Amino acid sequence: ALPVLEEDQRQARLQALDAQVKQCRECAGIVNYRQQTVFGAGQLRPTVCFMGEAPGAEEDRSGQPFIGKAGQLLTKIIQAMKLNREEVYILNALKCRPPQNRTPIPEEIGFCRHFAASQLDVLQPKFIVCLGAVAVQSLLQSKLSIGRLRGRFHQYAGAQVVVTYHPSYLLRNESAKKLVWEDMQMLMREL
Ligand code: URA
Repeated sequence: ALPVLEEDQRQARLQALDAQVKQCRECAGIVNYRQQTVFGAGQLRPTVCFMGEAPGAEEDRSGQPFIGKAGQLLTKIIQAMKLNREEVYILNALKCRPPQNRTPIPEEIGFCRHFAASQLDVLQPKFIVCLGAVAVQSLLQSKLSIGRLRGRFHQYAGAQVVVTYHPSYLLRNESAKKLVWEDMQMLMREL
């Protein structure tokens, strides 16, 4: 693990990483369809990082993570936790939008993994919330379902990891909202 980094070091490392992401052609596929990369946004010293799947249409247009419908729901979840988007950090497993928002294939998750991993190495959060199966596959390299993994803490490089459902899933399955809220409360008790 890296020693605790000062804020200017974090900024410099993230900027260098963002520049690499912009140049990346590793997966050679979806890079041809997206408009721009979406690196992530938030605090340089976040206690909590939220990790999603991949940019959608609005994120691809703006370069900012989680600003569409799912993003608005994520913002509400963050606010319900008595936090705000500026004090957390939001990133995705993939930095490019897959065509038609299709689910990323395992190879794409694998190619992109080192970017999110390096980003989290710099940010050194206390908690990482994996939103959905793609974030889980990237971070924990697990194929288990959210249902199997939620409800307890997992470990990643010194951070406590909470696994929960993706906000887009909640838009289609209202009843899962209470499960996500249970997961967020588990985290909040440790804050
Ligand atoms: N869904 C995600 O997983 N990430 C985003 O940035 C937007 C929607």
